[in-house]
Amino acid sequence: MHEWIADNLRANGGTYQTCICAVPALARRQGLVTVTCDPRNLEHVLKTRFDNYPKGPTYHAVFLDLLGDGIFNSDGDTWLFQRKTAALEFTTRTLRHAMSRWVCRSIHLRLLPMLQDASLKSGVVDLQELLLRLTFDNICGLAFGKDPETLAPGLPENAFAVAFDRATEATLNRFILPESMWRFKKWLRIGMEATLFRSVAHVDRYLSAVIKTRKLEIDDGQNHDDLLSRFIKKGTYSEAFLQHVALNFILAGRDTSAGRMKSVWGNDCLEFRPDRWLSPDGKRFEMQDSFRFVAFNAGPRICLGKDLAYLQMKSIAAAVLLRHRLHVAPAHRVEQKMSLTLFMKHGLKMNVHDRDMDSIASELRKTRQSAAAVPAEVVAAGA
Ligand code: HEM
Repeated sequence: MHEWIADNLRANGGTYQTCICAVPALARRQGLVTVTCDPRNLEHVLKTRFDNYPKGPTYHAVFLDLLGDGIFNSDGDTWLFQRKTAALEFTTRTLRHAMSRWVCRSIHLRLLPMLQDASLKSGVVDLQELLLRLTFDNICGLAFGKDPETLAPGLPENAFAVAFDRATEATLNRFILPESMWRFKKWLRIGMEATLFRSVAHVDRYLSAVIKTRKLEIDDGQNHDDLLSRFIKKGTYSEAFLQHVALNFILAGRDTSAGRMKSVWGNDCLEFRPDRWLSPDGKRFEMQDSFRFVAFNAGPRICLGKDLAYLQMKSIAAAVLLRHRLHVAPAHRVEQKMSLTLFMKHGLKMNVHDRDMDSIASELRKTRQSAAAVPAEVVAAGA
């Protein structure tokens, strides 16, 4: 599906219009859908005429059972109020410290030991599975102060995580059906609608218990720095609202997206070249135009957790790549999955090898020795 849309975009110069059901009378009634990856159009939609492009009633109806009127699923004043409240929290340093704490804990206590084990056994790991579990644990820690430890040896099944994934998958299914059809199935409570109902009920029970416990702990004078506790301390929100705050953040924290058009990135758009983000002399990081790189959205609805996500990614990359070399397992096929956020259908199977730390240490020693050997007059001149 993603590949098909990308092909259509390539064939149509980056923008095209289509309809959901190609029956002329129906198409006219439903209206056309515009698909675009042109940075100028994205700027127009996401920023210049932001008010003209709300998520709208279709999106709202599809997500209502899962996300309620949370930040992800609201427009206008309901969205603005939540955005302002949440944006205030995201500017505080405590949230960055909290993310750093959760991510370091899961890297050192669980991810690294699991990679070490795979490397000793010359085994294969599904890196996507490990990282999805890690980010899920982190976002639960950050959102409501409870790490469900889904990243653990043997990859145990976690009922809350499973219910959450099922609920998002069943919600996505609504997009493929005409609204009347999924509403009818919801009314009969059959198929994916039955799954959605059960999964949402499970997630709601879990979060409701977390909120009750947290309220008691706060009344007891305990100190918590998670997002939910900050909203509770403000004292004015209903339990349903708090539940949706937590849920919307969990969905937000699992987001992944990508872009790959020649018209945007040049002929080598499919190559992994992180140096695109470096200045021509290769020394400085340079921000890309946010309408070219929209993985975090752009404009007034830009991802609030972007900096936290970078903190998390850099912490993981540094800790893992210092210790290991990773190679995609032979014959492993990387294909996209049809899902709400971008996943690989068969995961990312990788072989893990230990990195030769002795050679790194001796390189470092050499650099230090040559720095120490710089003549005193050169150091003085430099100062
Ligand atoms: C690599 C990781 C991430 C990516 C690629 C990403 C991407 C995005 C995207 C594309 C949106 C816009 C979604 C939409 O409007 O439909 C978004 C919104 C949002 N993200 Fe992220 N996100 C990431 C991580 C996080 C994290 C870790 C947090 C929280 C700690 C977070 C919090 C939010 C929030 C609150 C919104 C809603 C903003 C609004 O509607 O005003 N994100 N993110």
